[in-house]
Amino acid sequence: LKTECPSVWKYAKLLPIEREPVTIREGGTPLYKCDRLAEKIGIKELYVKHEGMNPTGSFKDRGMTVGVTKALELGMNTVACASTGNTSAALAIYGAKAGIPVIVLLPAGKVALGKVAQALMHGAKVLSIRGNFDDALALVRTLCSQEKIYLLNSINPYRLEGQKTIGFEIADQLGFKVPDRVVLPVGNAGNITAIWKGFREFKKLGITDSLPKMTGIQAAGSCPIVNAIKSGAPEITPEENPETVATAIRIGNPVNAKKALAAIRESSGTAESVTDEEILAAQKDLARLEGIGVEPASAASVAGLKKLVDMGVISKDETVVCITTGHLLKDPQTVIDVCEKPTVVDANIEAIRKAIFGKAE
Ligand code: F0G
Repeated sequence: LKTECPSVWKYAKLLPIEREPVTIREGGTPLYKCDRLAEKIGIKELYVKHEGMNPTGSFKDRGMTVGVTKALELGMNTVACASTGNTSAALAIYGAKAGIPVIVLLPAGKVALGKVAQALMHGAKVLSIRGNFDDALALVRTLCSQEKIYLLNSINPYRLEGQKTIGFEIADQLGFKVPDRVVLPVGNAGNITAIWKGFREFKKLGITDSLPKMTGIQAAGSCPIVNAIKSGAPEITPEENPETVATAIRIGNPVNAKKALAAIRESSGTAESVTDEEILAAQKDLARLEGIGVEPASAASVAGLKKLVDMGVISKDETVVCITTGHLLKDPQTVIDVCEKPTVVDANIEAIRKAIFGKAE
């Protein structure tokens, strides 16, 4: 399985694609060992798999390189998705690379700036829906059933095929060892499903010999999967009005909920919710203790880990991998809103010394 250039296509033999891929070098993201963050949280061994280092700034590239390649293989020449932002950015870019039109449906006013900028610049037809993500997803499913348009939300199995390579890479980067636990944010619940599939495939092939506990984190204002795990319900109860600062995971009716519940239960994992305050605190910790800049949804993984360690659910001896799904620059406005403002000073050394040291000399 070793190749010169680490990427999703390193694992081509395990991906159901026949043709030349539509690729911009996705995958091969860093797995950082995070000792300062581990110490603050109170566990021995913590890694962060920074999916924000993908070419469009989120893990969605892994699913889209496979999904858009499959669209061409099937002779589909228009693609569409609903999105909280990252999926639309990735689809716009892979569609541009493939040379086919892209249609994206976004919840109006609830998509981070960087994501909309990407969808617009790369030439997608951007529709801002007066409704939330769940409304947009229902509409794009109807549209794709009525027209010859290929749907590239994570209901599409080829998206999950691409994203399962996160599991492959983690094992690969740890020397074919599997961590005790993988912690990640959950929105539409595709990624947790896909990563679990990746780990199971490696084990079945005899490449690895164990499986991680899959641990999904949701925002407190948007946590149907957490509620189902905690109550033991066989299915989720959708939430009508999901709300969180982590707009990427502002989803009340996750389309892959059933598979995600199975992944969590089969792996003896768990699910937990975190408040917006906990998310924003974890975002700062990642940035300031480890130099890892992530968008709020991604920080939910670290916030959830901290909460589960504090609760005694996760033991200090576990080896944990947190997945940070999207880059800080995806959502600059939230950063501006939560960080201390720049100090404006006159252009002379006295003013600068005063601003830094509190006095001029
Ligand atoms: N983190 C980020 C940054 C995301 O953009 C998403 C999903 C998730 C986590 C959750 O992943 O849906 O597989 O459980 N974003 C989708 C989108 C919904 O449209 O970009 P999931």
